Amino acid sequence: MQPKISVYIATSLDGFIARSDGGLDWLEHDSGKDDYGFYEFFGSVDTIVMGRGTFDFVVASGQWPYAGKRMIILSSTLTISSVPERLRGEVEILSIEPGLLAEKLAGEGATHVYVDGGITIQRFLRAGLVDELILSRMPVLLGSGIPLFGELDSDIALEHVETRIFDSGLVQSKYRRRDS
Ligand SMILES: NC(=O)c1ccc[n+]([C@@H]2O[C@H](COP(=O)([O-])OP(=O)(O)OC[C@H]3O[C@@H](n4cnc5c(N)ncnc54)[C@H](OP(=O)(O)O)[C@@H]3O)[C@@H](O)[C@H]2O)c1
Repeated sequence: MQPKISVYIATSLDGFIARSDGGLDWLEHDSGKDDYGFYEFFGSVDTIVMGRGTFDFVVASGQWPYAGKRMIILSSTLTISSVPERLRGEVEILSIEPGLLAEKLAGEGATHVYVDGGITIQRFLRAGLVDELILSRMPVLLGSGIPLFGELDSDIALEHVETRIFDSGLVQSKYRRRDS
């Protein structure tokens, strides 16, 4: 059976996931008590697929909040020897198209996949593979940065599931693919 493929991501109101230099300060200043449903979502996934750009950022942070999940890093440049030793047993590095990866994960029993990283999410969207999109919009305009969305070969029709408004001003909307 095909695993469910989800995106859970925060953007500025104008649709950026990070500043052009990767900065997330605009996101981190909102370190309130609410986890915005992240831990419930995270608990439901068994596999994380992350782009190398996001992995670089996580490595630089010195933290590893992904223990216990299968973690696949997508990269055509990274090798396991360039991964910090403490993380070598935690990650698999693959260079593979989204469709083939989805097939591979289905064959290996994955049930719920969390796809993370700007380019990676765009490629999964373009391949028509994202079943669920949980988008948290922060009340800030950045003007420039790394965009969440990019070009598509055709429209992707989504069904709005719910929108939650938090006291911090964060607005979180959940969508699912219309045909999923
Ligand atoms: N706001 C948020 O919630 C949030 C969440 C996640 C990330 N971010 C931010 O987003 C930024 C990183 O995003 P990004 O645009 O660099 O995208 P990314 O998806 O994290 O990384 C892109 C890289 O992933 C690799 N890749 C993707 N698909 C591949 C495939 N099918 N096969 C082989 N390699 C593949 C390529 O690496 P190679 O060049 O090595 O081939 C590509 O350059 C960071 O600043 C991070 O902090 C923000």
